[in-house]
Amino acid sequence: MVAGSMDPIVRKVYDIYGQVIEARQPVRDPEGMIRALREEFKLVVKPYVVYLTISAFINNRPVLYEGPPGTGKTEIGEAILYLWSGRKPFILPCSENYDEYRVIGDFHPAIAMSKGFNEESFIPRPLLAGLIMETGVLIDEIRRSSEEFQNLLLDIIDKRRIIIPELKRVYRQNGSGFQVVFTSNPYDIAQGELSDAFLRRVVRIEFQYPSMEEEYEIVELKLGGLSSRLSDTVIFKALEAVRKLRSKAVYKPGISDTVAWLTLTALLSNIKGKSKASEEELREAGRAVLYKNPEDEELVNEILG
Ligand SMILES: Nc1ncnc2c1ncn2[C@@H]1O[C@H](COP(=O)(O)OP(=O)(O)OP(=O)(O)O)[C@@H](O)[C@H]1O
Ligand SMILES: [Mg+2]
Repeated sequence: MVAGSMDPIVRKVYDIYGQVIEARQPVRDPEGMIRALREEFKLVVKPYVVYLTISAFINNRPVLYEGPPGTGKTEIGEAILYLWSGRKPFILPCSENYDEYRVIGDFHPAIAMSKGFNEESFIPRPLLAGLIMETGVLIDEIRRSSEEFQNLLLDIIDKRRIIIPELKRVYRQNGSGFQVVFTSNPYDIAQGELSDAFLRRVVRIEFQYPSMEEEYEIVELKLGGLSSRLSDTVIFKALEAVRKLRSKAVYKPGISDTVAWLTLTALLSNIKGKSKASEEELREAGRAVLYKNPEDEELVNEILG
């Protein structure tokens, strides 16, 4: 498109967001994506997550990642969108007061006062920018938003277009880079229910805790050279302990807790001048990392021994 003939809002979007959005080579085949997630993003992602997400995207449908805290919903969603569209996705962290002005666009008060509600005073926001720039959008913790906001999103996602009544303009998706990932943690009792209308439109993908083998691999990936300080006995003791806590404790340790625990264990042994961490360091680090809820104290003590 020639710059002069460009719609002023499209130009504004590129002016504002074009510089800050990092670009990379897109990866859209599932096996290539699984590999890139592991090698470039240090994420071990279950294949069904990648296959279902790509199928949904090909079909222009949004996905909903649901599952317990700390299972990678946000980080995996972000990485998959990045690989899919070749641009860093926009992230919208939902809260109750999220509305169209914060995601589509609003008007600069002072400029609108002097120049009116027009292209000049309009400030495009991430959802509109994502649609225009063919970039993915991650809508995090959707249950925290109002039903009204969810309905607004559904309308946009269904019709793949955004209307800005004040400007009498309609913007439409014109490629396949604009895809949407929602995340939600249904176990959080403070969060609202999702409507049937919402659930009918999204492809729901359930996230689960990793298997022993997967979590072992994550630890190796994240700790890098530090993992040479940990014997398999120490690592598996930690992996078994977090599994017990996930089934019984109030605070359920996520993957990042396992990584934090074992990193601290390795560092402790390092500064003590030991070549390998013993169960003593594992216990010490465990007390520091795993005590999150007073109700779990007894259980954590029992598990750490
Ligand atoms: N499959 C995975 N492979 C590697 N690291 C992971 C994986 N899942 C989670 N992690 C690690 O755990 C951290 C937390 O993950 P993330 O915040 O994405 O989880 P979440 O499911 O969105 O949690 P919440 O429900 O609390 O928002 C990540 O920063 C990442 O380091
Ligand atoms: Mg999250």
